[in-house]
Amino acid sequence: MTSHTAPDHPDIEKVLISQAQIQDRLAELGAEVSSHYGDDEVVVAAVLKGAFIVLADFSRHLSTNTVFDFMAVSSYGASTKSSGVVRILKDLDAEIEGRHLLIVEDIIDSGLTLSYLLKNLKTRKPASIEIMSLLMKPEQLKVDLPVRWVGFEVPNEFVVGYGLDYAERYRTLRYIGTLKPEVYS
Ligand code: IMP
Ligand code: MG
Repeated sequence: MTSHTAPDHPDIEKVLISQAQIQDRLAELGAEVSSHYGDDEVVVAAVLKGAFIVLADFSRHLSTNTVFDFMAVSSYGASTKSSGVVRILKDLDAEIEGRHLLIVEDIIDSGLTLSYLLKNLKTRKPASIEIMSLLMKPEQLKVDLPVRWVGFEVPNEFVVGYGLDYAERYRTLRYIGTLKPEVYS
């Protein structure tokens, strides 16, 4: 696999995390998560839309007995700031009472989205809830969030690629990068 350290898209200012770095880290996380759950069944739920690419690559490194599910929540739209208002657009299909739940996220910014989701999911009495996020902006975290597995910490900049969008664009870039300032205006 080639490592893309130079952006291959005219709107990208710089590559923060290369394709090879992402893939290596997901393999490590897959091994850690698999050994954590052992023989237990786990419901692995991705938060749409951004996490669908993380889930696809991460899940192929899992050796546990897994069931996949999806949730969708309202996101930023074309803005780059969190509104703090979260709406569940699509709920889990699975009943999670008494089962292990692993939430897979693309990025945790303020943490408000997941904090709200966690509160809601806990009322359903799962055996356990853990969070795995590919990216995290630690400077931005506004709430106390128990994130068990993090792929990479990123600086407080808006990033795109590998599932992450700006106004629904750039999700299919194979790396994580920042946008040129003129793209926002
Ligand atoms: P939070 O509620 O502030 O933690 O925001 C969570 C959601 O906002 C993420 O799941 C993303 O959908 C979106 N988001 C936050 N930061 C970024 C970013 O840098 N690029 C793209 N989407 C982001
Ligand atoms: Mg998201």
